[in-house]
Amino acid sequence: MFKIQISQKLIFSLVTLCMVGVMLIGSQYSFAEASSLSSSPQKTVLITGANRGLGLEFAKQFKQLGYTVIGTARSPEKAVELKATGAQVVALDVTDSESVASMAKSLKGTAIDVLVNNAGVIGNPQENFKSFDFDKALMTYNINSLGPMRVTQALYDNLLEGKEKKVIHITSILGSIENNSGGYYDYRASKAALNTMNKSLSIELESEGFTCVVLHPGWVKTDLGGERAPLEPAESIKGMLAVIQQLEDDDNGKFYDYQGNSIAW
Ligand SMILES: NC(=O)c1ccc[n+]([C@@H]2O[C@H](COP(=O)([O-])OP(=O)(O)OC[C@H]3O[C@@H](n4cnc5c(N)ncnc54)[C@H](OP(=O)(O)O)[C@@H]3O)[C@@H](O)[C@H]2O)c1
Repeated sequence: MFKIQISQKLIFSLVTLCMVGVMLIGSQYSFAEASSLSSSPQKTVLITGANRGLGLEFAKQFKQLGYTVIGTARSPEKAVELKATGAQVVALDVTDSESVASMAKSLKGTAIDVLVNNAGVIGNPQENFKSFDFDKALMTYNINSLGPMRVTQALYDNLLEGKEKKVIHITSILGSIENNSGGYYDYRASKAALNTMNKSLSIELESEGFTCVVLHPGWVKTDLGGERAPLEPAESIKGMLAVIQQLEDDDNGKFYDYQGNSIAW
């Protein structure tokens, strides 16, 4: 009788323990499930100069990856192809402080995970030392070197709210002093300046979790790259997206091409 009572108590305790265990595992599972859902909200990318060329292709491919895409254009009413990607189109001229401020105001409170400073111009490729046009060169610097800084500064709060905190500057191998084979005075200098700005930015924002890089897209068939360029935009952007997605803390401040190869400064 005593033995039967003990074994009944033992069985009751074991059953109770099992039930508590099942409930605990169940509650942990649903917690894990819920937290994984809440920790994977949609990410947002902002791309400047997204109405044509590489910027437009960036918009298409980021969209395919599931990002919410904000694309900027100087003339939003003409950005038909960009709108067709499903991107939100925002007006922006990177040389105009008021335009930059108005863009930032319209995006107040929007978290931005990745900023792609892509807008740029080729400047005056045909000129040489004797024909150097200082006013035209100032415009090239204003767009290619200062434009990205204006935009990044204006969107700093949005980037702080983002999870990825990636600032991508589209530079050029022509901005590499080591690789300079002559010519393209203002374009080369404007991209070398952008590279230097990116380096300083990467140092200043490192402790806040930012990763800032300069990427060379290759020589690509766009209005800027021309018909003779060997690369299609789709291939260049596919490569740069792979690089962007794989960026780690150690990559902060680096200079890569669209295939992830390091480029000499
Ligand atoms: N294609 C290449 O082979 C190549 C090689 C190396 C580096 N890159 C770099 O890649 C980036 C994109 O070049 P891309 O080939 O796509 O050139 P693209 O086809 O000529 O497009 C340039 C984009 O920049 C925009 N833009 C120009 N000035 C602007 C301003 N002041 N404010 C705002 N947006 C402005 C243009 O807008 P609008 O339509 O209003 O003019 C356009 O959306 C540039 O930074 C370029 O230097 C290109």
